[in-house]
Order: sequence, then C-alpha cells, then structure tokens
Amino acid sequence: MKILGISFSPRKTGNTVVLLEQALQGAKTEGAETELFSVSGKDIKPCDGCWACFGKGKCHIKDDMQPLYDKMVEADGIIFGTPVYVYSMTGQAKIVLDRMLALSTPGRSLVNKVGGVIVVAGSIGLIDPAKDFYFTMVMQKMLPANLVAVYADKKGEVREMNHAMQAANNLGREIVQIVIKKFTYPEGFPRSFFAYGTHTR
Ligand SMILES: Cc1cc2nc3c(=O)[nH]c(=O)nc-3n(C[C@H](O)[C@H](O)[C@H](O)COP(=O)(O)O)c2cc1C
Repeated sequence: MKILGISFSPRKTGNTVVLLEQALQGAKTEGAETELFSVSGKDIKPCDGCWACFGKGKCHIKDDMQPLYDKMVEADGIIFGTPVYVYSMTGQAKIVLDRMLALSTPGRSLVNKVGGVIVVAGSIGLIDPAKDFYFTMVMQKMLPANLVAVYADKKGEVREMNHAMQAANNLGREIVQIVIKKFTYPEGFPRSFFAYGTHTR
C-alpha cells in the first residue's frame, strides 16, 4: 500500500511539510509505504483549458506535473496539504487541482483512492481551502478521510503543537485503515465530472 503526501507550500520545511511528514509517519506505522512530494521549486504550469486530456488520462503539458500524475495513480491514499494564502489554498495547489482533470479515465483515475486534507493558516481562512479539496475528492470519486486544520505561522512552529502533530499522525493511520477496508463506489451510479445539480441533463 502506498500513501502519497503532497505539499502545496513553497516553503520546503514549513508547517505543511512538518504535518505531512507526521501524517506519513502515522501511515508508516500502520504498514504503508510513503512518499512526500513538494511543489516547492517545481515547474507546474496552469491548465490551458484545451480539454485534450479529458477521458484520455494524459495532459499534453510537459512539466513536473507528469511525474506527479504517475505518483497519484500509483497511490492508494493521498494527503493534500496546503497553507492558507489570502483566504484560500496556494496558487500552486489550485493549479494541481485543475490539472487533475486529466485523471479521468479507467486506469488513470483517482476513483476509490482515500484522501486526507491538511490546512495551515496563520490566523484565519481554514475552511475555504478545505472545502475545495473535498469537492475535488467528490468530483474524482475519492473516499474522504479526516481534515487536520491548524493555526500556525512561523516556519515549522507547528512542531511544538502536540495536538496538531497527533491529529496529523492519526490522519495517516486512519487513511491506511480505510484503504484496508477496500470501499468502492457502487457501479450502478455513474457520475461524471459534471453530474451535479443544474449540470445534470
Ligand atoms: C502570501 C501569503 C498569504 C497568506 N495569507 C494568509 C491568510 O489569508 N490567512 C492566514 O491565516 N494566514 C495567511 N498566511 C500565513 C500562512 O498561512 C502561514 O504562515 C502558514 O503557516 C504557512 O504554512 P507553511 O509554513 O507550510 O508554508 C499567508 C502567508 C503568505 C506568505
């Protein structure tokens, strides 16, 4: 079993990375292989809206998103971690979420993968990015695990916050335990990326 943590912070050793490492440590204690991917220093361009990827599983943009696609597809569980930037997720996070639209074909999708979320804010704005990650999971037919939402500001200060560190560790362990249960979406209720409310035709 593989659990992938993705840090959307430009800080290589910031609070998001510390919490993700802690979550992955929890997953490891439950027997998973783990990997941390950080967008820091990576070349990941925004979606150009060409739609060529849709239903094919491949995006034509050749950049550091390509290895991340492979890591996501290989993982059984994914933990998304972002700091709050101006009441939202970081720009880097949104770019990756948009590019994930390419993962929309059998064998190249995130269907039934378990997802967890870590959000860190200095003082305000935790809910909106959390909500956006969970909607992404709904769209991707992932199975949502817990949210770890933390207030911390200075680089790495979250290390001193025992509750937050324990919550992150528990998240990693919980994800492994959910993966073990092998829940799957029922086949009889197909859902496309657009099949909500007023988009339903
Ligand atoms: C450009 C920028 C915008 C930010 N906007 C917010 C914000 O809207 N609300 C907030 O509480 N903290 C905000 N912060 C603070 C970060 O969320 C906080 O420092 C967080 O711990 C950074 O996580 P990291 O160490 O993983 O990078 C902002 C920081 C930066 C650099």
